[in-house]
Amino acid sequence: VPPRVAIVGATGAVGSTLMELMESRGFRYGELHLVASSRSAGRVLTVGEREYTVVAVEDFDFSRVDVAFFSAGTAVSEKWVPVATEAGALVIDNTIAFRMDPDTPLVVPQVNAHELDRRPASGIVANPNCSTIPLVRLLRGVEDRWGVRNAVVSTYQAASGLGYSGVEELQESSRAALQGPDADFEATHFRPTLAFNVIPKIDRFLDSGFTLEEEKMLRESRKILGLPHLDVTTTCVRVPVANCHSEAVYVECQEPVDRAELVRLLAALPEVRVHDEETISAFPTPAVVDSSDIVHVGRVRVTQNNPRAFWLWLVADNLRIGAALNALQIGEELVARGTLEGRP
Ligand code: A2P
Repeated sequence: VPPRVAIVGATGAVGSTLMELMESRGFRYGELHLVASSRSAGRVLTVGEREYTVVAVEDFDFSRVDVAFFSAGTAVSEKWVPVATEAGALVIDNTIAFRMDPDTPLVVPQVNAHELDRRPASGIVANPNCSTIPLVRLLRGVEDRWGVRNAVVSTYQAASGLGYSGVEELQESSRAALQGPDADFEATHFRPTLAFNVIPKIDRFLDSGFTLEEEKMLRESRKILGLPHLDVTTTCVRVPVANCHSEAVYVECQEPVDRAELVRLLAALPEVRVHDEETISAFPTPAVVDSSDIVHVGRVRVTQNNPRAFWLWLVADNLRIGAALNALQIGEELVARGTLEGRP
């Protein structure tokens, strides 16, 4: 029996992407319930051929569903995920709230789908941070072949990481910047302005001087890859791009790396395309990736002074690969394994 599904955050950027992917990938569900804040209650949204009325989370009875996808922010998950699991629903959560909980698997299906063989003790499967997902998908293959000593990553993260309102603010601030210094514009998300700028701060600062986003990439990579001592250090930067995160990744391995073999290995990973396989000068950019459902790689180069180290450039759609697609692929794996079943 296909599971009955709730999407919490259905009116948001990730929720909308998830509904679109459920249709395009033919994810089968018995019932579908769209849930958001009381601001959106009563709104009618079309999914596939059918219309659904949005329900406020306060008014939703989670015992009506087998699985609930949460992408309505950390505060909403902290409050309502326990209510949903208590009611018997399995939760696939897209926030930071439960990612490091030992009873909650943190899953990237291309890396650690085996975590989904059993129903998690907490009743929750956590979806990792948007920049961590494409990184670990590549590191897995490298670790298995050459062993990863350490990785140094700089991210170039899109405004859509903050949802629809992040993209709107990028557009409005760009228009205001073009109008000149007297334009009427007040920033709410990005300070200083993201228009014609780059901001080396995502999420809050920690006492270490790193940001929480940078800390997430370290601890989540370790948990997903099962490498508790993995050395990953990151600078996370917001850039004036609407959608798709990019990353410059430097990896030092235990053994010398052959570039041609590395390119072949990366290209053979599931749902990864290496653009410089034919011409070394080909590279992906956020504005020009031809498919949003794969991780795009380019600029693969072994360093001149250290044959054990290499650089690569990656681009991945943060709303899809980094959020909704990963969450849905967790759902698909759960169904395929019989871990998630509808109740007749
Ligand atoms: P709403 O549209 O009713 O505010 P985005 O990531 O694009 O900003 O979207 C955030 C999603 O989270 C939206 O669906 C939003 O619903 C939902 N959301 C935000 N705050 C709450 C809340 N307090 N309770 C339930 N849903 C919420």
